[in-house]
Amino acid sequence: MSFLMLERKDRGVCVDIELYRSNKNLSDDLVDSIFEKAVSGKTLIKNRRTLTIDYVPEKLPFRDEETKTIAQTLAVVLKGARPSNLLLFGKPGTGKTAVIKNVVQRLHQKAKDLGIEVTVPFVNAKSANTGYKVLYEIAENMGINQEEEKKLQVHFTGLSMGEATDRILDFIQKKKKLHVVLIIDEVDSLVERNGDDILYNFTRANEQISGGGFISLIGISNSLTFKDKLDPRVRSSLSEEEMVFNPYTVEQLQKILADRAKLAFNDDVISSAAINLCAAMAGRENGDARKAIDLLRVAAEIAERERLTNVEEKHVRLAQEKIEKDTNHEVLKNSTTHTKIIILAIMKSKNGNTGEVYDIYSSLCNNAEHEPLTQRRITQIISELDQLGLVSSDVVSKGRYGRSQRIKITVPTLTIREAFKDDPSLSTWDLVD
Ligand SMILES: Nc1ncnc2c1ncn2[C@@H]1O[C@H](COP(=O)(O)OP(=O)(O)OP(=O)(O)O)[C@@H](O)[C@H]1O
Ligand SMILES: [Mg+2]
Repeated sequence: MSFLMLERKDRGVCVDIELYRSNKNLSDDLVDSIFEKAVSGKTLIKNRRTLTIDYVPEKLPFRDEETKTIAQTLAVVLKGARPSNLLLFGKPGTGKTAVIKNVVQRLHQKAKDLGIEVTVPFVNAKSANTGYKVLYEIAENMGINQEEEKKLQVHFTGLSMGEATDRILDFIQKKKKLHVVLIIDEVDSLVERNGDDILYNFTRANEQISGGGFISLIGISNSLTFKDKLDPRVRSSLSEEEMVFNPYTVEQLQKILADRAKLAFNDDVISSAAINLCAAMAGRENGDARKAIDLLRVAAEIAERERLTNVEEKHVRLAQEKIEKDTNHEVLKNSTTHTKIIILAIMKSKNGNTGEVYDIYSSLCNNAEHEPLTQRRITQIISELDQLGLVSSDVVSKGRYGRSQRIKITVPTLTIREAFKDDPSLSTWDLVD
């Protein structure tokens, strides 16, 4: 067969005409209809942005009390007084970040209208994954790095934590009446990683600042036990005020989803049965609004891919399966090498009893030239895996020989292989039965 190569010099594109002609009939109709539909066909989703994680709706139903209390706490800043430090707690997806973002946005607007200088740096301590990065982002948010004098700036690297903190405090001092409300979201991961030095320095900073400027701190955490890890001095200053966000009920989730569906979908695209199922599934898992919205989005994407014009309950069920599979994949992929080896050992074990699993684990470790962990540590890791729902363990009675634990993997073998396949510290034969 002869191929004719046509060079489009104007765009530098090479088109293989013969190949194009021979394939044209096969895929043309399909591709054309997809494009056609994208332009003119009825689509399910009218505003995709409203289903993304970063989208914060203007109205947050069932959070009026929380919004009001935070606004009242912060309002004093408009009169030049320092707001109390504040700690917000609550399980994932209970609206902590969304509420604070809404209040802060309006505070900014009001301060601007009144000509008051308020700075509200917002840092997520989990995504800024080192203590220094947290300080760097605070400095960036406050505009310190726009300072002309280089020696006042907090560079991306190269300073000690103490020096970076001092430069932030010097900046507040130098600006005289600068009012800073520092928000540290997911503050528990900062403390977990770096202890509470940064929080200590900022809660104590007002003793050093003179001339009308100040700094208040708002910490947000989804770990209710986070406070126990703080030094008592930090704990008492940081929690001058506290607020707990309760999980949403199924009925509340239904309303939140119905409002969101109106923004996101074209009319009559999603049934109330599908919305109620999303709410019921997310309600079962800790009243998490993020989970509920994720279910809605993924269900719509599934229906969209099937080129349907409605989202139904079956799409929500498929969405649940997909999200679970993706979450398992992420957890498995990011687990430590020893956890991965334990999972492989459980898969290879015939009767699943702890002794046998440990023996297989030890021999896999030897093959991979890793020093095995103690049996006690392995038992701990297995119980963590149990809590994550990746393994299940029953206690089996063996009559007069006592009782023994039987451990089983609860996720499909394929999911595990997929998640482990790129880990260089596992030899490929370990992944084969
Ligand atoms: N009352 C509400 N009305 C509408 N949407 C809400 C409401 N509460 C939460 N959401 C939405 O649910 C999602 C999760 O909320 P948010 O990020 O505020 O949770 P969070 O409490 O900060 O959770 P985490 O502890 O995991 O950070 C966001 O998309 C948010 O817009
Ligand atoms: Mg949050």
